[in-house]
Amino acid sequence: MARIVVLISGSGSNMQAIVEACEAGRIDGHVVAVISNKAGVRGLDIAAEAGIATEVLSHKDYPTREAYDAELQKLIDNYRPDLVVLAGFMRILTADFATHYHGRMLNIHPSLLPKYTGINTHQRALDAGDTEHGVSVHFVTEELDAGPVILQARVPVFEGDTAQDLQQRVQTQEHGIYPLVVSWFCSGRLKLTDAGVELDGELLGPAGYA
Ligand code: GAR
Repeated sequence: MARIVVLISGSGSNMQAIVEACEAGRIDGHVVAVISNKAGVRGLDIAAEAGIATEVLSHKDYPTREAYDAELQKLIDNYRPDLVVLAGFMRILTADFATHYHGRMLNIHPSLLPKYTGINTHQRALDAGDTEHGVSVHFVTEELDAGPVILQARVPVFEGDTAQDLQQRVQTQEHGIYPLVVSWFCSGRLKLTDAGVELDGELLGPAGYA
């Protein structure tokens, strides 16, 4: 059974969806720790209530990004994870950190990558007049939100939508696709190779599994 460490910064709804999928046997793995860079966030309570070890490592206690990521790496590796899952972990990662977990760290990003890397993705989709928006799960590489896409989900943008409407519509999709991708990884079906992302030995295209 795969050992999963989840990193969060906030409400932890994606982490919760993954924990529930593990408990239901839909993922051949278990979440061994939830680590947050912010104290007092709801996701930590959810994890603790589920009996999962929780840790807070505040970035404010470290002088540089490098120092923080080095300590975070140590903390994560104490749990000997097979997979590290970024679930609303709102930090830019150093190259060393990303390289250390190459091929075994996933992220979920609320846009149809390569569109709208970074923040405020829902508002930016509205401002651009997009009729379609969505979410991507990808392997993490050194460049922000640029790792190879594994799976995307699309949602329509309706006349009069606010950024909050879009966020809610996208999050509903997130809770479906993130546990699915984690289950693929934990069952050994998903791999990052030199050629790209492979699912069941088949190379996926730039938009991932479609
Ligand atoms: C999710 O919507 C996720 O896509 C987004 O943060 C939210 C976390 O929600 N991630 C990013 O913006 C990463 N750049 P959650 O804490 O309820 O899972």
